[in-house]
Amino acid sequence: MARPESGLTLVGGGRMGSALAGGWIKSGYEGAISIHDPAPSDLLKGWAEAGKIHLNPAPAPANTLVVAVKPQIFPKILDDLRAFVGKDTLVLSIMAGITLDSLAERLGTGRVARAMPNTPGLVGEGMTLLCLPSSASDEDAAHLRDLLTPLGAVEGPIPEDKISAATALSGCGPAYAFLLAEVMAAAGEAHGLDRDLALRLAQKTVQGAGALMMDSDEPPSTLRENVTSPGGVTKAALDVLMRDGAMPSLMKEAVAEAIKRDRELSGD
Ligand SMILES: NC(=O)c1ccc[n+]([C@@H]2O[C@H](COP(=O)([O-])OP(=O)(O)OC[C@H]3O[C@@H](n4cnc5c(N)ncnc54)[C@H](OP(=O)(O)O)[C@@H]3O)[C@@H](O)[C@H]2O)c1
Repeated sequence: MARPESGLTLVGGGRMGSALAGGWIKSGYEGAISIHDPAPSDLLKGWAEAGKIHLNPAPAPANTLVVAVKPQIFPKILDDLRAFVGKDTLVLSIMAGITLDSLAERLGTGRVARAMPNTPGLVGEGMTLLCLPSSASDEDAAHLRDLLTPLGAVEGPIPEDKISAATALSGCGPAYAFLLAEVMAAAGEAHGLDRDLALRLAQKTVQGAGALMMDSDEPPSTLRENVTSPGGVTKAALDVLMRDGAMPSLMKEAVAEAIKRDRELSGD
């Protein structure tokens, strides 16, 4: 880690919070880790018993405070959160839709950052977007990127006005990929394959295509062309998927709707 320190405090030890903390523990984070959660999971209790974290210690200002509660909880626990914020505290929120201005105003510090993870982060294969105020130092940016690394890749800092569009890709994107596997399996079943076999074929194909894409230097369009022989079987299918009004334009429309909804929910 770039800046070992004591006083890393996580509020909210749910799915994302635990994925982060698990990574910090595994990578040998050198400072003290405190986790606050009113109903800690067995995983958190086990870490506490093994001396890897402090669970629900008395609140005190943290060097770095990571907020990983649901956004709707945030306004209800402001008094609790302020007890973790001192004059030098760096605050990182992974709550969807809570802006930097809102964090700064409600927590009483300008030293704030937000990140938008996605669910593959739960298995260390995520794409997390980092968003910082213009006043943030390079040192803080590096420290935050390190803290987010357990979830997978980290992009950014990106400007806050791009976060809705980025969220519509990487935040919502796992659902698009799951839908692809789902509809592929349903199509296979409709054409006579056993349901479970169709699902296994679809799941492994989506996963394998992803792995190949990340291993290759070629863009996805080239990889697609590489499996599309003129007059061949794949071409017959892609002619349907890529015709006017089909997948490319549907995806553009879907992303536009996701951006609109994200802005509504963020109060933009
Ligand atoms: N999952 C995603 O794909 C994703 C993507 C982007 C952003 N995020 C953001 O990540 C954040 C966490 O999501 P998640 O999926 O990890 O949610 P989660 O599993 O529900 O985790 C939230 C945790 O906070 C705990 N909590 C509730 N009240 C608390 C309090 N007063 N003090 C401390 N902890 C409290 C919850 O406990 P109880 O369960 O007992 O209420 C739960 O353990 C959310 O803000 C979400 O917007 C998630």
